[in-house]
Amino acid sequence: MSSFSMPFNLIFFLSFCFIPSSHVVSSPSSITSIEAEALLKWKATLHNTSQALFSSSWVGSNHCNWTGITCDGTRSVTNLSLPGYGLRLRGTLDSLNFLSFPNLTWLHLRNNSLYGTIPSHIGNLSKLIFLDLSFNSFSGIIPSEICLLKSLELISLEANKISGPIPRNIGSLSSVSNIYFFDNNLSGPIPSSIGRLHNLFRFDLHNNLLNGSIPKQVGMLRSLYLLDFSVNSLTSSIPPSIGNLSNLVYLYLYHNHLSGSIPMEIGLMLKSLSALQFSQNNLSGVIPISIGNLTSLQTLFLYENSLSV
Ligand SMILES: *[C@@H]1O[C@H](CO)[C@@H](O)[C@H](O)[C@H]1NC(C)=O
Ligand SMILES: *[C@@H]1O[C@H](CO)[C@@H](O)[C@H](O)[C@H]1NC(C)=O
Ligand SMILES: *[C@@H]1O[C@H](CO)[C@@H](O)[C@H](O)[C@H]1NC(C)=O
Ligand SMILES: *[C@@H]1O[C@H](CO)[C@@H](O)[C@H](O)[C@H]1NC(C)=O
Ligand SMILES: *[C@@H]1O[C@H](CO)[C@@H](O)[C@H](O)[C@H]1NC(C)=O
Ligand SMILES: *[C@@H]1O[C@H](CO)[C@@H](O)[C@H](O)[C@H]1NC(C)=O
Ligand SMILES: *[C@@H]1O[C@H](CO)[C@@H](O)[C@H](O)[C@H]1NC(C)=O
Ligand SMILES: *[C@@H]1O[C@H](CO)[C@@H](O)[C@H](O)[C@H]1NC(C)=O
Ligand SMILES: *[C@@H]1O[C@H](CO)[C@@H](O)[C@H](O)[C@H]1NC(C)=O
Ligand SMILES: *[C@@H]1O[C@H](CO)[C@@H](O)[C@H](O)[C@H]1NC(C)=O
Ligand SMILES: *[C@@H]1O[C@H](CO)[C@@H](O)[C@H](O)[C@H]1NC(C)=O
Repeated sequence: MSSFSMPFNLIFFLSFCFIPSSHVVSSPSSITSIEAEALLKWKATLHNTSQALFSSSWVGSNHCNWTGITCDGTRSVTNLSLPGYGLRLRGTLDSLNFLSFPNLTWLHLRNNSLYGTIPSHIGNLSKLIFLDLSFNSFSGIIPSEICLLKSLELISLEANKISGPIPRNIGSLSSVSNIYFFDNNLSGPIPSSIGRLHNLFRFDLHNNLLNGSIPKQVGMLRSLYLLDFSVNSLTSSIPPSIGNLSNLVYLYLYHNHLSGSIPMEIGLMLKSLSALQFSQNNLSGVIPISIGNLTSLQTLFLYENSLSV
């Protein structure tokens, strides 16, 4: 009699403790059930209207076919992709335990109604390639742990309410090719470590509260195609090293407090330039004749400065 009741009690105990949802039936110790539980735990903290979005799509024992989830061959989550559509997700990331997703490469939550801070344990997503949290209401600072993400190719945090500095160590993002931080409240300097971002293609910091000077190390970003530091509070002169960016097509520095003269290197070397917008600064001196040699130029905005010809 007792030899039968013991295992029954044990099974009951296990299922009660480790399996919060009757839909999750894989082994408690397996990585895939840890992931499924972490997803359900996060879902449970979202506002009730957002939970309703998942009522028919995050059910069943196979979390790999839940809406927005993609897995690898071992049924471990690689993609969490829930960009906003219709009714947006409302809630925070506080209860999304990133430590549960060792194989996540793609985190795409653009255009929802997520708020709160970006958790520092995002730095534990060591395989992350694509991070898009743009068009939400995230606040607080960019955690410096984000600089641990050596595989990251895109980081998109634009159109939030993020404040504080750009992490000093941002130059550690050795694979990054697109940085979008525009339309936030970032303040302080542009770190000189950016000089190490050799794969950077688009670098967009416009409409923040950044101050200090443009670091001369910007000239080391040889792959750059778009550079947008406009609508900030940058001071000092434009570093001549910007002339090293021979692949640059879009160069926007308007609406800052930049002074000094326009480096002639810009006209001599940036042969691919299509847009050059330096308006609303405090630039002085003569407009370099070399600008006239930029035959691809389509927009040249220099108004509201103290330039002469
Ligand atoms: C969500 O909760 C509010 C109260 O907090 C309630 O009025 C509303 O009916 C709930 N909506 C859903 C879809 O459950
Ligand atoms: C998900 O997988 C289950 C079987 O595990 C299947 O019954 C269901 O139709 C699948 N859902 C989708 C959306 O593919
Ligand atoms: C992750 O999602 C993106 C776009 O939704 C897709 O391009 C990519 O192939 C996905 N990765 C995997 C491993 O499914
Ligand atoms: C966000 O989604 C809404 C639809 O819900 C769409 O109209 C809007 O264009 C999207 N915005 C962005 C920036 O993707
Ligand atoms: C997923 O992550 C786990 C834990 O780090 C690892 O053991 C497993 O090999 C990974 N799977 C793949 C396909 O990389
Ligand atoms: C998570 O990252 C922190 C550093 O930010 C590190 O100290 C910790 O060991 C990591 N944890 C795991 C489980 O990888
Ligand atoms: C930036 O901060 C100011 C004042 O603190 C606030 O009024 C404004 O809405 C914020 N902007 C963004 C994009 O967060
Ligand atoms: C930048 O602004 C901060 C306040 O937000 C100030 O403390 C700092 O001195 C400023 N730096 C420069 C170089 O103007
Ligand atoms: C970048 O430009 C500066 C100033 O024009 C020049 O002195 C420097 O040698 C250049 N650096 C490289 C790596 O080409
Ligand atoms: C603009 O620069 C001149 C020197 O060229 C300086 O006297 C003036 O104070 C500056 N104005 C502003 C608004 O920075
Ligand atoms: C402009 O280009 C012409 C032809 O390549 C060259 O002779 C001239 O020196 C250039 N002028 C300037 C100011 O760069």
